[in-house]
Amino acid sequence: MSATLKSLRALSDPTRLRIVALLERDELAVAELQEITRLGQSRISTHLGLLQDAGLVQSRREGKRTFYKLNLQAGGSVGEFIQLAIRGAKELPEQPHDQINLKRVLARRKEQAQVYFNQIAGRFDRVYGPGRSWQAFGHLLLRILPPLVVADLGAGEGLLSELLARRCKKVIAVDNSEKIVEFGKAKAKKNGLKNLEFRLGNLQNPPIEASTVDLVILSQALHHAEVPTEAITAAHKILKPGGQILILDLLKHNFEKAHELYGDRWPGFAESDLHRWLEAAGFKKIEISIVAAEEQPPHFQTILAGAKK
Ligand SMILES: C[S@@+](CC[C@H](N)C(=O)[O-])C[C@H]1O[C@@H](n2cnc3c(N)ncnc32)[C@H](O)[C@@H]1O
Repeated sequence: MSATLKSLRALSDPTRLRIVALLERDELAVAELQEITRLGQSRISTHLGLLQDAGLVQSRREGKRTFYKLNLQAGGSVGEFIQLAIRGAKELPEQPHDQINLKRVLARRKEQAQVYFNQIAGRFDRVYGPGRSWQAFGHLLLRILPPLVVADLGAGEGLLSELLARRCKKVIAVDNSEKIVEFGKAKAKKNGLKNLEFRLGNLQNPPIEASTVDLVILSQALHHAEVPTEAITAAHKILKPGGQILILDLLKHNFEKAHELYGDRWPGFAESDLHRWLEAAGFKKIEISIVAAEEQPPHFQTILAGAKK
């Protein structure tokens, strides 16, 4: 059967005209069409099947439900038939009731979304949200970053370095573990990150020329340094004038097992100590705050310290 004949056959029934008119406003699920039209589920499904077969209607699945909508992108005769059907449906006696019921169903749908968001207000960050993650937020924030030269000291395998390299001019990742550096190098190569360079070295005396980087990052690395003040002084040395240091570390804690479990040399740092050390190294505009607190024992808290050369 030709496409034209299929469309004509699909629209030869007043119930199908009603359905087309309802789908003009928004996509609808079978249960919603049932509620609006007061027709049985199987009848509606059969009508939708015929409309879909003729290319007048499209569907998409969302969980257990299937939503139907008009194929408004269809050009040619299909598009013309849809417009004709919408006009014709306005003359049907059921039209006023259908439109009132449609309005009610759509209003309730909107309310349900609002009820959900009202319910989770105040604990939004602790509730699962499809597609929402700190990783995605990280990528979003990266877009704001200018093309900096970054030194990531005590970089580990380069979790942060890799993320930064997607946006920064160059990232130099320094670590004193030969194995970690080899692993990081291979991973960066595999991921095609040519501007990410791993170097073996000590964060207290990083193998980076003086006054060459815009940003130094010490992420959960300073508490591994033998002499943390030396690491901060070294960071000052490799920064260009106006460059910035960012330290993410643990707030001073009394979880003694951190040494045995994670190889930590220092039990985090007090905000006041970090402030003094940064000042003594010559940094200005020092800002320190606690940016995260774990809910599980031993309730580690993360401190973020930033300053300018
Ligand atoms: C806890 S990991 C942090 C890794 C990474 N910065 C992050 O935030 O995911 C600490 C890293 O510092 C490295 N490290 C420890 N002492 C160091 C030192 N003196 N110089 C350079 N790297 C060091 C370790 O090899 C390890 O990879």
